[in-house]
Amino acid sequence: MKVLVLHGVNLDMFGKRDPAMYGTITLAEIDARLTALGGELGVDVETFQTNAEGTMCERIHAAHGDGTAAVVINAGAWTHYSYAIRDALAILSVPVVEVHMSNVHAREPFRDHSVFSGVAIGQIAGFGVDSYLLGLRAAVSSVAARG
Ligand code: DQA
Repeated sequence: MKVLVLHGVNLDMFGKRDPAMYGTITLAEIDARLTALGGELGVDVETFQTNAEGTMCERIHAAHGDGTAAVVINAGAWTHYSYAIRDALAILSVPVVEVHMSNVHAREPFRDHSVFSGVAIGQIAGFGVDSYLLGLRAAVSSVAARG
């Protein structure tokens, strides 16, 4: 089973960006934690990051034919306004789990709304890197539950 983990705009700057909010963990370290957990769970984890919205849509499109069984996505600020990425996710038939490092519901009002809510099976926010790890577990469980 392969789980695709997608990181959106500005998330390559984790480690340098607003450490009071996001900590000092880097994206490479997050990816390493995900790969290690994937090994424990017996699933392959592929990670992908881009700062270009169209490139993110194209990577989601490619997930149709590449054996992806589930998607975990932290789309960064795109979460709050990108109908293009929402529509790309909606084309997928596999489970999609939305994750955020920070508690988006306890920050500025614009972060309280996710345009992905209708196409994700659920959202995990506020637990730092554990949001990703919990998201991976949720994705794997969802695939298993679908049979
Ligand atoms: C984020 C939350 C978003 O509101 C923000 O734009 C990000 C990071 C998070 O992981 O907490 O870039 O997705």
